[in-house]
Amino acid sequence: MANTAKFRIFRFDPEKDRDYRFQDYEVPLEPGMTVLNALFYIQDNLDQSLCFRVSCRAGICGSCAMHIGGKYRLACETQASIAKDSRVTIRPLAHLPIIRDLVVDMAPFWAHYKKIQPYLQPGTPDPERERSQTPAERSRLDILIDCILCASCHASCPMTASDEAYLGPAALVKANRFAVDSRDNALEQRLKIVGDEHGVFRCHTVFNCSLACPKEIDPAGSIGNLKRLATKHFLCKPEVR
Ligand code: FES
Repeated sequence: MANTAKFRIFRFDPEKDRDYRFQDYEVPLEPGMTVLNALFYIQDNLDQSLCFRVSCRAGICGSCAMHIGGKYRLACETQASIAKDSRVTIRPLAHLPIIRDLVVDMAPFWAHYKKIQPYLQPGTPDPERERSQTPAERSRLDILIDCILCASCHASCPMTASDEAYLGPAALVKANRFAVDSRDNALEQRLKIVGDEHGVFRCHTVFNCSLACPKEIDPAGSIGNLKRLATKHFLCKPEVR
């Protein structure tokens, strides 16, 4: 086929396969076609057994994160034309159990996320109206609230591979998001969580997470800030923020 995208896709069906394998597919390219569109084309026309995860198709839900052509990307935001000139390999997210093909079990990822208490804890009764912030206070949250929990950072991190209990970059970005929120008053208890042996000090600052993030959030920067706050907290509390 002349104008095609060529993919080599990771396959594993635990009910049939003893080991993983790769399968090649060739998809006719359409203008504007994404890798996600190509996966749907394969499923509809070439191989109904191919499994992948998808929801919003608009770069919002994080469901379609996978390793595409040597990089973690969102399939719905990646043009299929990257596979026009040479075959592109697609693999599932690393460091999470594989359920089937490109679908991984996100349970360990959510378990770490839950540990950092990912919700506002003002520690005071609800006000009559909203809890207000100045524009400067609100702007400290700007990029941090863009995380779509796609787990690309988790999959790219060498520490999540070697320490299953390591909280991981996504959970730590969320912890930092509340650490810098002027309305939150649970900093001390969160620092105890992120400052333990499986927390921020396990990070070796290799920056893979910041390179992998499709929303350019810089998890390594968040981890750096939490390291600073935790160090200050453990050395000279209570002036930590
Ligand atoms: S399907 Fe939601 S981010 Fe791609």
